[in-house]
Amino acid sequence: MADMKVGFYGHVRQYHNLKKEIDAAILEVLESGSYVMGPKGKQFEPELAAYCGTKEAVGVNSGTDALWLAFMALGIGAGDEVITTSNTFFATAEAIWIAGATAVFVDVDPKTCNIDTNLIEAAITPKTKAIVPVHLYGQPAKMREVAAIAKKHKLFVIEDNAQALGARGDDFRLGELSDAMCTSFIIQKNCGCFGDGGATVTNNPDMATRIRQLRNHGSLKRSVHSMGYNSRLDDLHAAVLSVKLKELDKWNDLRRARAKEYDAGLAGTSLTLPTALPGYRHIYHLYVIETDDRDGLQTYLNSKGITALTHYPIAIHQQEGYPWGQSARISGSLEHSERSAARVLSLPMYPEITSEEVKYVIEHICAWDQARAGKASGAGAR
Ligand SMILES: Cc1ncc(COP(=O)(O)O)c(C=O)c1O
Repeated sequence: MADMKVGFYGHVRQYHNLKKEIDAAILEVLESGSYVMGPKGKQFEPELAAYCGTKEAVGVNSGTDALWLAFMALGIGAGDEVITTSNTFFATAEAIWIAGATAVFVDVDPKTCNIDTNLIEAAITPKTKAIVPVHLYGQPAKMREVAAIAKKHKLFVIEDNAQALGARGDDFRLGELSDAMCTSFIIQKNCGCFGDGGATVTNNPDMATRIRQLRNHGSLKRSVHSMGYNSRLDDLHAAVLSVKLKELDKWNDLRRARAKEYDAGLAGTSLTLPTALPGYRHIYHLYVIETDDRDGLQTYLNSKGITALTHYPIAIHQQEGYPWGQSARISGSLEHSERSAARVLSLPMYPEITSEEVKYVIEHICAWDQARAGKASGAGAR
């Protein structure tokens, strides 16, 4: 096969495909003279709410802020416990700590790497205030189960949906079964702006108002303040996101199509492939395989011009210095989280990746796998 370079992200391709619309949207903001809390931000919020099927959307500065401002708005803070997982991006736990609460980690279902809902109840104490399921890699956590446990124990549910905008469960939408859902618009995400951005969506108008106040120095009215922060989604980003949101379902379909190609091409290998739950719309923000020789495969692919990255190679509770004086608790064993951290490898996946590029990645993985199997059988014969 001829040599190629297959990058991990398609940001620039995506920009080129939408250049006319994006350039026009950016120019409109520049000419408006209104860059923060201006018309484009006001336009984008209801568009996002409509896309998510929620009453409200509040744009903020990042996915991390979306989470901790949601906690703050719900009164979650010092002395409270929040249950989540450890094999997520660091910000999930960080947001809990910024709010002043205790992060409580439970293990994941090894098939999906999402929270194992059978383990949640054992982690609940009188201090528990909320559950934060993460829809890791683009596949929804089992929200019906999460919501039932939350209802039984009178807990809040805040979805960390930085990775699955546009995904769905078998009989639920994301954002439907929780108090709030938080997303990130950093460019690596499936709906990314050209910098930092995030949003909280909710069906609770009081909570939305509270976050609007918190994100703007505690102010809902000019010159009238209570304690708050500065965490607003700029109009430039909002304008770009308005353009991109219209493309998101199509992009997610393309991700799903490329994932099918990976599934078919890698089916006979020794790799563990992603599991899509029946009836779920997994949108493959990341296409993550597992192998015992993750580092070997990553090095091999890189040597062939293919960028493969790890999400996430160190579980939060295994990071050096954990928990850095923060309040944290581990409930039961986190063996599946730790095992996934040691084995995961994300293959190039974005709407703009071509089938030829996917084929190139598959061919190299198959060659690596066969060579590995050959080595193993040779060793066994000796
Ligand atoms: C699961 C998860 N939660 C939270 C975040 C935080 O988002 P941001 O980087 O926009 O703060 C991210 C992404 O970066 C993420 O992947």
